[in-house]
Amino acid sequence: MITVSILGSGNVATHLIDAFSESPYIDLAQIYSRNLNDIQHFKNKASVTDNLSTLTPVDVTIIAISDDAIANFSNQLNSKGVVAHTSGSVAMTDLNSDLSRGIFYPLQTFSKDKSVDFKSIPICIEAENEDDLKLLKKLASIISDKVYEVNSDQRKKLHLAAVFVNNFTNHLYHIGNSICDAHNVPFEILHPLIKETAEKIGEISPKEAQTGPAKRNDIKTIEKHLAQLSNSEKEIYTVLTNSISKTYQ
Ligand SMILES: NC(=O)c1ccc[n+]([C@@H]2O[C@H](COP(=O)([O-])OP(=O)(O)OC[C@H]3O[C@@H](n4cnc5c(N)ncnc54)[C@H](OP(=O)(O)O)[C@@H]3O)[C@@H](O)[C@H]2O)c1
Repeated sequence: MITVSILGSGNVATHLIDAFSESPYIDLAQIYSRNLNDIQHFKNKASVTDNLSTLTPVDVTIIAISDDAIANFSNQLNSKGVVAHTSGSVAMTDLNSDLSRGIFYPLQTFSKDKSVDFKSIPICIEAENEDDLKLLKKLASIISDKVYEVNSDQRKKLHLAAVFVNNFTNHLYHIGNSICDAHNVPFEILHPLIKETAEKIGEISPKEAQTGPAKRNDIKTIEKHLAQLSNSEKEIYTVLTNSISKTYQ
């Protein structure tokens, strides 16, 4: 049995609380948030607190709070077990050096109200010593079938890549959705295209999978597209078109 505490009440904390509390191999001891009201609804899963001095000893403490707050926040902790944060972009060494430091980074997009299947979510782990790494690996393997040892530099690059494949892509969905809404076309007509785009790169590389006017160098089509766009959309369209052209020239 691994004893765990979760510090935070946001998207990632919420999904980890659900996944950990469902496992018979994990004892979710405590959940901390600076706003007690935000975690009252977890009372049936673990003891809840807004006071860091009431944290009891556990094997693993997970800090799932905003990136910018992690370093200072960790200075308030004195746990003897492993203390790991869940960020893709914050170095392990940003944590208080008096702690046994680690990383427990689930590489997925989490929103509180959207359920996830943790078994298929890659968890990237890192720790300063072998025993802690083993423990984090064991904990991650209980909730996920995809556990990777990734160092802080690699994790930073993964996070960077994730911003391109998820955050930017999603923003492009939003632009596509707005264009559809503005012209009374249901966005759902594009759903199969979105699915196929994502599925295709499971079989061939993104470079091989590229299609469209920029790759074909269909200048007249590109000009027609640009003429229909607002200034900010034009800017994005031009940057991406130039990047694609350069890749295939
Ligand atoms: N969401 C994702 O898709 C995702 C995926 C992988 C990893 N991550 C990482 O997981 C971590 C949490 O992300 P999230 O999306 O769960 O964030 P979130 O939903 O915005 O929640 C942030 C949490 O941090 C707490 N917090 C912020 N500043 C704090 C401070 N100074 N002291 C104590 N608590 C503080 C907030 O408390 P209040 O509510 O009181 O402000 C809230 O509980 C981040 O490091 C993020 O990079 C996120």
